[in-house]
Amino acid sequence: MPSIVTLISGRGSNFEAIVKTAQNEGWPVNFAGVIANHSAAKGLDFARSQGIPAFAIEHREHATRESFDAALMQKIDELGADLVVLAGFMRILTPGFIRHFEGRLINIHPALLPAFPGLHTHERALEAGVVEHGASVHFVTEGVDEGPIICQASVPVLPGDDADSLAARVLAAEHQIYPRAVKWFLDGRLRIVGNQVQVQPPESQLIKL
Ligand code: GRF
Repeated sequence: MPSIVTLISGRGSNFEAIVKTAQNEGWPVNFAGVIANHSAAKGLDFARSQGIPAFAIEHREHATRESFDAALMQKIDELGADLVVLAGFMRILTPGFIRHFEGRLINIHPALLPAFPGLHTHERALEAGVVEHGASVHFVTEGVDEGPIICQASVPVLPGDDADSLAARVLAAEHQIYPRAVKWFLDGRLRIVGNQVQVQPPESQLIKL
């Protein structure tokens, strides 16, 4: 049975959506562990409530990014991850870490990439006046929020939206596409061709909400 290790920094609602979907649909998968970069991350409580091993590796206790990533890498390898899921993990990962897990490291970003990489995506979408916003699940490569896109969900930007209302609409979309992307990976349906991801057999890689 394949094993998933999830990295979080906060509330972990995406992680929760993946676990609940796996439970509801009876996926043959082992949630081998959740690791947060600080012990206050709320998502660790959910993991414990589900009997999923939960760990904190405090990034502040590491003098360098390399040393933190080395500790993280060691723990993930110990847990035997076939897939590493970044779910609101707010640390930039070193090239060495990314290379080590390349092809089995995925992330969710709250924007329709390549639009709005980086932080404060909802504020920036509103400021830019776009009429459509959303979220993307992608393989992680060395550029921040770059990497082949597995699937995206788009949501409308509505009159009167502020960053919070838009974030809530995008988050609901995230909870739909992340479990779907993970399942495709586990089922061996993803093929990376250049900078694109093909799903086989083909299925829409865009959800419009
Ligand atoms: C999500 O919006 C994710 O896209 C972003 O951080 C948020 C994490 O939320 N990178 P959660 O911890 O999964 O609830």
